[in-house]
Amino acid sequence: MKQKGTGIFLTVVGIVAVLIALAASLAQAEVTDREKAASEVAASFLNELGAAMKREMTKGGPTEAIKVCADLAPEIAGRLSREHGWRVTRVGTRVRSPLLGMPDAWEQTALAEFAERAAKGETFTGMVHSEVVTEPGGRYYRFMKPIVVQPHCLLCHGPVAQIPPMVQEVLRQRYPFDAAVGYAAGDLRGAVSIKQPMGNASE
Ligand code: HEC
Repeated sequence: MKQKGTGIFLTVVGIVAVLIALAASLAQAEVTDREKAASEVAASFLNELGAAMKREMTKGGPTEAIKVCADLAPEIAGRLSREHGWRVTRVGTRVRSPLLGMPDAWEQTALAEFAERAAKGETFTGMVHSEVVTEPGGRYYRFMKPIVVQPHCLLCHGPVAQIPPMVQEVLRQRYPFDAAVGYAAGDLRGAVSIKQPMGNASE
C-alpha cells in the first residue's frame, strides 16, 4: 500500500515536471520569436539610418547630415514604435543632450555588458542582449543591439579637433552639454533599444 502511494506520488511529480518543462519551453519559444522580430526591426532601423546618412553626407555635406541623426533617427524610431506597438529608441554610451538618448538603468547595464563582451574578444556584429523584465506597470520583453562607430560617424562624434569648425558651431549651439564626442571607429556608440509589452504583471 505504502509502495503504491509512493508510485502515485512519483507519477504526479513526473507529470508536474513535464508540465513545467513544457511551459518553460513555450515561454522560451515566445522569447525566441520576440528576439527574431526585434532583431529584424533593429537591423532595418540601422540600415535605413545608415543609407540616409551616406546619402545626405554626399548630397548636402555634414551640416545637412546632422538632420539625419537629429531628426530622421527619432522620426524612424517613432514610426517603428507605432507600427509594432513597441517602444523603439536609440540610446548612447555618451549623449549629445542629457534629455535625449539617455539610457535607463537596464539599458546602462546592457551597454556595460556589451563593452565587457567586446573586451573579451566577441565582435559587436550579431551581439544582442534580451530579457523579460517585470516592472510595477507590467511585464516587458527588452532587447538591445549595439550601434558601432563607423569612420564616417567621426565627423560629428570623433575627437573635437577633427570635427569641421562648421559642424562644431552647430553642435555648440544645439547641444551645450554635448558628451557624444571623442569616439574612435569600432567603439561602442550606443544601442537600438526595444521594449515590448507582454501583458499585466498579474496575468
Ligand atoms: C553630421 C553629423 C553626424 C554624423 C555624421 C553622425 N551623427 Fe550621430 N548624432 C548627431 C547629432 C546632432 C546627434 C544628436 C541628436 C539629438 O538631437 O538627439 C546625434 C546622436 C546620435 C546618437 C544618439 C545618442 C546621442 O549621442 O545623443 C547615436 C546613437 C548616434 N548619433 C550614432 C551615430 C552613428 C553610429 C553615426 C555614424 C553611422 C553617426 N551618429 C553619425 C550628429 C551626427
